[in-house]
Amino acid sequence: MHRRQAFRTVLLLAALSACVGQGSRPTSGAAPTEQAGEHQNLQVLPKDIPHDELIAVMRNFTSSLGVRCTHCHVPYEGGPPDSLNFASDAKPTKDVARGMMRMVREINGDLLPDVPNLGENPMQVGCMTCHRGAPRPVTLEDSLGTVARRMGVDSAVAAYGALRRQYYGRGTYDFGERSLSTLASRLTAEGRAADARRILELNAEQFPSSAGAAFELGRAYEAAGDRARAITQYRRALTIQPNNRQAQERLRALGEQP
Ligand code: HEC
Ligand code: HEC
Repeated sequence: MHRRQAFRTVLLLAALSACVGQGSRPTSGAAPTEQAGEHQNLQVLPKDIPHDELIAVMRNFTSSLGVRCTHCHVPYEGGPPDSLNFASDAKPTKDVARGMMRMVREINGDLLPDVPNLGENPMQVGCMTCHRGAPRPVTLEDSLGTVARRMGVDSAVAAYGALRRQYYGRGTYDFGERSLSTLASRLTAEGRAADARRILELNAEQFPSSAGAAFELGRAYEAAGDRARAITQYRRALTIQPNNRQAQERLRALGEQP
């Protein structure tokens, strides 16, 4: 198929999400002054794309990735920082973006139509499908895990706060209790039990009314031989959820009355 047709769809989607996405998102930059037909270095988009359509595609990029134009475009050498040389390929991210555009075009144009049982009008993949407002489409547990391994668990705790302040409510990351719990299991499996415990403490702080978070933290303390703290967490789990069987069992195993 259908390259041309698929391309139209991508543009349409881009234009749509550009309209919807305006407002609070970091879209803008200096409005470029070129007119249609004056674009010098288009390798993926049609060379005769009207300027408005091109800008709609670019706005879709900024809102899907949560970035500004300068994420992919550099200023003119020696020029003011707000006059961008859009034709320049000096930023590596611009070429990554070209690769992503080709990938998305192939998915929508060639691969999706061959997937069975999707019905008449399958959804189209766009930059937002994966990126969800972040420059790199990684999960919260992946991001924080990388920080914990490279810079230590305290940095990961700080990064959690920063990411939450910036992205909460946008759908970029899952800030539900499962993310930190998953991260803690991974750290435990890597032999980083103390780091895992710190992450579970954070989870219990963030979700003070979750019996599950309290119980998991209790387990981590128990594994570390910290009986008193484990008991406190199991009791907390039972205050939140009086019939929590797992917490009752652990308390009995530790010789305590549930
Ligand atoms: C995620 C990276 C990315 C972001 C962010 C981005 N662009 Fe682009 N831009 C590109 C790529 C890639 C091309 C080249 C497309 C091609 O080769 O078909 C391009 C091309 C252009 C061109 C055409 C330049 C020429 O003469 O060849 C203009 C104008 C432009 N972008 C404006 C903008 C504006 C304005 C913004 C901010 C609203 C923006 N871009 C944000 C990646 C980006
Ligand atoms: C199928 C999922 C998917 C889609 C759709 C997608 N991306 Fe990506 N994108 C990725 C992945 C995966 C990475 C690499 C993350 C990493 O490991 O650094 C990435 C990385 C990037 C980067 C490099 C970011 C950096 O800071 O190094 C840019 C730029 C980018 N994508 C732009 C786009 C644009 C523009 C679109 C839409 C045309 C798009 N992506 C669509 C999955 C996707």
